[in-house]
Amino acid sequence: MSTIIQDVTARIAAQPTLARRAKAFEVSPWAEAWDLVSRHPDPIYFGNGAPAHEAQPLDRLREAGARAWTEADGVLDYGEVEGYRPLRELIAARMAIRGMPIDPDEVMITNGSQQGIDLVARLMLDPGDRIVVEGPVYIGAMQTFDAYEASYLVVPVDDEGLDVAALERLLETTGARPKLIYTVPTFQNPTGITMTGARREALLALARERAILVLEDDPYGELYYGSAPEAPLRALDPAVVHLGTFSKTIAPGIRVGWTVAPRRLMDLLLMAKEGSDIHTDRIITRTVYHTADGFLDTHIAALRELYRRRRDTLLAGLRRHLPSDVTWSCPGGGFFVWVRLPGEADADALLPLAAAEGVAFLPGSWFYPAGQKEHTGFRLSFSSLPIDRIEEGTRRLGAAIEMFLMTT
Ligand SMILES: Cc1ncc(COP(=O)(O)O)c(C=O)c1O
Repeated sequence: MSTIIQDVTARIAAQPTLARRAKAFEVSPWAEAWDLVSRHPDPIYFGNGAPAHEAQPLDRLREAGARAWTEADGVLDYGEVEGYRPLRELIAARMAIRGMPIDPDEVMITNGSQQGIDLVARLMLDPGDRIVVEGPVYIGAMQTFDAYEASYLVVPVDDEGLDVAALERLLETTGARPKLIYTVPTFQNPTGITMTGARREALLALARERAILVLEDDPYGELYYGSAPEAPLRALDPAVVHLGTFSKTIAPGIRVGWTVAPRRLMDLLLMAKEGSDIHTDRIITRTVYHTADGFLDTHIAALRELYRRRRDTLLAGLRRHLPSDVTWSCPGGGFFVWVRLPGEADADALLPLAAAEGVAFLPGSWFYPAGQKEHTGFRLSFSSLPIDRIEEGTRRLGAAIEMFLMTT
């Protein structure tokens, strides 16, 4: 090895100049459960929060992609930071149907909603700033907020969603002045719970009174399996910043989502986006437009059927196989069910036992900021598993939990 390469290798190994925030990137929470269960010859993994492969409209995407490439002349230059206008118009029209009449200029296309979380955090958070999150909270959002060295106020989620009275008490007792409330009010990741209308009103009133920005993350709102859920927070208050995505209704690999924000904030978010990646891929945004236009409603109707059957199978399997003192959420949509073990039973300790039975989940402790663990819950995702695997998975899970509760 040349001395230059040796020198560079040594310097990288020593990592002398990492920022404080680099700690946020030390572990991948996703890898661990899969690693455990993949040692089993026939693993069933309830950890994957992605859509089903068979739900991805591949033929439609191919055709739309071919069309996008035929229009590519001039499109391969740098372009509009805010994204392809027809796609923003399509999003605005879809949002109007859900009670959010917005101007396409209030929509910015992003690389998934994950980038929306990042850009809002970038704009709002100085190191040490307080932010309110749900307990449990979407892991990916925490990864982003950690990178901005946010300090968390964790508010419990009960059957009616984020407990606004508990948040109010927390603010009173701590005197904290958070800048941001991050919430997934509809079919929450990881609990599947939906915030009631009364809670939505109360949360927005509190946010207005204390001048806190509400960041609503809404990847699952269109994936409901009975009646439509409560209107999004953005429908009740135009000051809310709203995030949407095509990851769950088309495919996550295309990385196309959107952020809706009031104009003043939008101007800053656009500059933050420009500084981050200039704009989202101009071919893929056209591909998504041609895919969605005249097709997405029919496609989503089929997805609702597919996922409703999977959810029902999971809930029936849990009823059949889990001990009677274990409880779980019954989501009206989305991808997740949250299971709670009785007493002080620890889902982290259950995981290796379940993995040995060939079934894995994401334990609740991963959905809390460091040092604020909750041990009894865990997340099951039903979106990507076929019916027979869900049935067999709940049988294995029941056996593992019974064994676990007998021995602890
Ligand atoms: C609540 C929540 N927000 C954001 C994301 C990221 O979505 P995207 O693929 O649009 O970045 C996910 C994905 O699982 C999610 O569950």
